Amino acid sequence: MRAVVTRPGAGRAWLADIPRPAIQRPDEALVQVLRVGVCGTDRHVIARPASATRALPDGDDYLVLGHEAVGRVVEVGEDVRTVGVGDLVVPTVRRGCAECVACAKGQADLCFTGKIRERGIVRLHGFLAELIVDQEEHLIRIPEELAQVAPLVESLCTPEKALRRIGNARAHLPTDGAVLGGVTRALVTGSGPIAILAVLALRLRGVATWMLARQPATGPAARLAEDCGATYVCLSDVDLEAPQAGIGAFDAIIEATGAAELSVAMVDALAPNGVLDLVGGPPERKAVPIQAAALGAMVGRNLTLLGSVNANTADWQAAVTDLSDMGRQFPGAVQAIITDVLSMSDVNLAFGRTPGQIKAVIDIDSGG
Ligand code: BGC
Repeated sequence: MRAVVTRPGAGRAWLADIPRPAIQRPDEALVQVLRVGVCGTDRHVIARPASATRALPDGDDYLVLGHEAVGRVVEVGEDVRTVGVGDLVVPTVRRGCAECVACAKGQADLCFTGKIRERGIVRLHGFLAELIVDQEEHLIRIPEELAQVAPLVESLCTPEKALRRIGNARAHLPTDGAVLGGVTRALVTGSGPIAILAVLALRLRGVATWMLARQPATGPAARLAEDCGATYVCLSDVDLEAPQAGIGAFDAIIEATGAAELSVAMVDALAPNGVLDLVGGPPERKAVPIQAAALGAMVGRNLTLLGSVNANTADWQAAVTDLSDMGRQFPGAVQAIITDVLSMSDVNLAFGRTPGQIKAVIDIDSGG
C-alpha cells in the first residue's frame, strides 16, 4: 500500500510502497485512512536527525509520517466493543511507556519516564498511509458531520488540555465556579491552527479573547479570529518590554508560537493570579534575557507558568464536542482553517510552507 515516509534528518518525505497492516490482536481495528493534517512537528521530524527520542520504529529504516488523521473502521478484532465497521474515528498519537503510573492509568501525556512512543513522530509509524491498525482504546469515534475537518481534532486537543490545566491552576481562587476559575480576559499568541482553535475554544466559553501574532491585521488568521468575536493585535504594535501598556492584563495566556522571547515577555502581560501556558515548545538551544522583576511579579501577583504537551482521552473527547459546537456557533470558521487540500502525490508540496497557508491536509485517495 502507499504511504508517505521519511527518515528523521533526511530533509524530505517521499511516497513509498509498504506492507499492508493486519489485525494482530483481538482488541485492534483496521482503519482506512481518509484525511491527514500536516503540522510543524512533521517538519521537525523530517528535518532533525534521529536521536534516542526520535528513533525509527523497530526493524524499519523509515517512518510513516502523520499524526492528525481521520479514517473509517473497515475490520475489527473479535474483542473490539467500542468501535464498529463503518465508524468514523480519529486515532490518538501517544502510546505509554508501560513503566510509570501515569501511563498505567492511560495518561501517557503525563508520562514520568519520557519513554513514550508517538505515532508518526517517535518510534511508531504514523497515519499517512492507506490503512492503519490500532487498539480500540486509541480510537476516538467522531460524528459524520466532522469528516472533513476531523484532522483538527488532534490540533484542538492541545488547547483543550491547556484550558483544563489553566482551570486547574485557578481552581483555588474564590470565583464561585466561574468558567476556567474566573478567566474573563484571555490572550492567545500565534496565528497557526492551534492558536486559532484556542481562540475559538475560549470564545465558545464566552471569554473575551485577544490574539497576538506577527501577521498583519488583514491576514486570514486575524480575520478568522475577529469574525468569532476576538480582538486581533499585531505584534509590531506591542512593546514587549511593557505589554500591559498596549493590550492590558490577562487572566490566562496560551503561548502557541514557541518563540522564547515572546514566551518570556508574556509573563509581564498576566493579571494577578494569571496563568501562562506554553504549548509551543521552542526547540532551539538559545538563551533569552528575563527581567528579575518578571520573577518578582510572579511572586507578587501569584502567577503560574505552565507547559503542556499532548492530551488525555478526556481532552480528545472535549475536542470532538467543541469542534461540533464551533461549527454551529461560528459557521465556516473551522472549515476556513483548512486552507490547502492536497493528495498523496503532492508530497513535495505538503511539507513546505505556502503563503496564506494555515492548515494543509492530505486526502488519502486509495489507489489513486
Ligand atoms: C502533537 C502531540 C505530540 C507533540 C510532541 C505535537 O505536534 O500534536 O500529540 O505529543 O507534538 O511530539
